[in-house]
Amino acid sequence: MNRLQDLGIKPTQSALGAEITGIDLNQPMPGELIHRLIKLWEKYHVIFFRGQSVSPERHIQISQWFGPRHAGYENMPILGDSTQPEMITISNVESDGLLGGGYIEPHQDGVYLPTPLAGAMMRAVEVPESGGDTSWSNLILAYQELPVMLKRKIRNLRVTATNIYAGKTSRTDLGGGKQFFAPDESPVYAHPLVRVHPATGKRILWVSPLNSERLEGIRNQVEANELLDTLKKHVDQDHLYYRHRWEAGDILIWDNRCCNHKRDAIPEGQRRVFYRTVIGGSRPF
Ligand code: SIN
Repeated sequence: MNRLQDLGIKPTQSALGAEITGIDLNQPMPGELIHRLIKLWEKYHVIFFRGQSVSPERHIQISQWFGPRHAGYENMPILGDSTQPEMITISNVESDGLLGGGYIEPHQDGVYLPTPLAGAMMRAVEVPESGGDTSWSNLILAYQELPVMLKRKIRNLRVTATNIYAGKTSRTDLGGGKQFFAPDESPVYAHPLVRVHPATGKRILWVSPLNSERLEGIRNQVEANELLDTLKKHVDQDHLYYRHRWEAGDILIWDNRCCNHKRDAIPEGQRRVFYRTVIGGSRPF
């Protein structure tokens, strides 16, 4: 256990994702193995471990192997309360649980920030018998599948995104617990529509169906809106997704720089209790 030679990698049969075996995340982890896990995260975009049992402190420690905690921006809330605790509860039953039990549209976390999150780590403690699956889509593949002419057209465009925890666009249905909603709109940051992954150099179609708001760089706004709608549909095609059927004891880490994720609704009367930390990001380029 926890030796390089014991590490197993089982890629999913989907557009991204791999199960990692031969690892007990609760036991000491040699540095070279942590380095390998980071490389696997960058390669597969979603990595997961089954049957784990870790404390909240260990959860935070593992998350920080992949990058630092997010340093919050004043009045630019992300999912969580106003103090942005290091680990939040995502649950439809716990009193401090966030996100409720409904369907969540495809999105990247904190895409509206100057430095959107690099990733997140989620730990499943109670899992519903049905529903509540989470799916991630591959935005590198989404970019690669665009026609050449369209790639040329969008090369230098920028995109802004709405903060759903601020101002009049606040989505209170996606709050819960002690979620902080800022009274005023967040400042607007336009990021490259095609961003480059800082670790792998791959191009990413940086479009979030839930948050992307406006394209900058096309004078005709009607044309810009139509193009954004087309791209939102493009990134939401089934073949770009990996759907994760959760089991209690799962720990899953995703790369928010090149994936959208969405969640199925949780059926009434079923319990779901998850814990999540986020990994701070850098300014997209
Ligand atoms: C999220 O959208 O960040 C949470 C997804 C989930 O509850 O599975």
